[in-house]
Amino acid sequence: MSDPVPPNSDPIPLSQPDISDLERTYVSDVLYSTRLSFGPFLERFESQMAERCGTEHAIAVSSGTAALHCIVRALPLSAGDEVLTTPYSFVASSNALLFENVDPVFVDIDPATYNVDVGKLEQAITSRTRGILAVDVFGTPANWPALTDLAEKHDLVLIDDACEALGAGIQDRPIGTWGDAASFGFYPNKQITTGEGGCITTNDADLADLCRSLRNQGRATSTRMEHVRLGFNYRMSEMQAAVGCAQLERLDDLLERRSNAAEAYHEALASLSDVLHRPEAAPAGTRSWFVYVVRLPDDASSGDRDRLVQRLNDRGIGSAPYFPSIHLQPFYREQFGYETGRLPVTERVAERTLALPFFAGITHEQIDRVANVLSNELPDLLRD
Ligand SMILES: Cc1ncc(COP(=O)(O)O)c(C=O)c1O
Repeated sequence: MSDPVPPNSDPIPLSQPDISDLERTYVSDVLYSTRLSFGPFLERFESQMAERCGTEHAIAVSSGTAALHCIVRALPLSAGDEVLTTPYSFVASSNALLFENVDPVFVDIDPATYNVDVGKLEQAITSRTRGILAVDVFGTPANWPALTDLAEKHDLVLIDDACEALGAGIQDRPIGTWGDAASFGFYPNKQITTGEGGCITTNDADLADLCRSLRNQGRATSTRMEHVRLGFNYRMSEMQAAVGCAQLERLDDLLERRSNAAEAYHEALASLSDVLHRPEAAPAGTRSWFVYVVRLPDDASSGDRDRLVQRLNDRGIGSAPYFPSIHLQPFYREQFGYETGRLPVTERVAERTLALPFFAGITHEQIDRVANVLSNELPDLLRD
């Protein structure tokens, strides 16, 4: 039985947004104006995103999932086509393909970075393969130079699910510029938040126009009631954009604090490094810290991991299994008949990884508390 939360120690959340007076001021500016949608903050947010990501176009939408869906719809992909993707991600990355009846083909991951194993992609290509959707998982850039070569060689579309990677880069190119288009997500646990929200970045003017139309009910232009295609309401509101502008102005500071928090975790957990592994960054990449995920050794079971998560939670420390394999989610098993053993590296990793509390404002004292609980619990847990 775990001890309850000790007195005088406030719970530590798994994640927490970082909201300052700047966000409050900008939202208040919107509320005192008469423009609650398609106003100046939306325009500003989009140009700030394009500038930050080094792209010609940025299209703000209502979520990261909406961004992915628009990209999949806008690219030349049709029902029955196959797109190679990773099973170690948030479920939205492959769901976006299913929305358009495109078949996700899961390729196993690299055990060092947890990103799709580029060496295994080529052998998964069939006559139906039309694209690759790679994810920069936990803010670690995928191997974009190799992915780009492969996509060019086989004439495939290339999508970057960068929902977890704003601020990352590889070979001096920011994440957001690689592939045909990239998606970003701004849920409150992300590097920046707009409450809910997302963005598409691309250098392709036609694709950008199509995404602008798709997010706004398939209109020909944002103002006229002329609907030239089937579209969606994936608009980002002016209040969300106002929060986003403030967050983007503060991005460097937010990223630096996240990176410092990760350093503090590395130090605090150094004595446990043989039982708590962490993914490596891509060799040529700059990581943007999204979550702090650790992995139990291979001789631990998913039950051990779940017990550890429970013990942390019992002590008021937010923790969660992160990520479960997409192909083993009940819906995917039922729909596609996936079974355990299909993607061994992903499954080995997914059964043993857990996320620890991580956000820009986490204190060293909180990190030390997490490390102390782990030091106390792990020997006992792994011996059982
Ligand atoms: C890799 C990845 N893809 C897609 C999404 C979907 O973003 P949203 O929750 O904003 O729809 C997320 C968000 O959690 C994500 O982490």
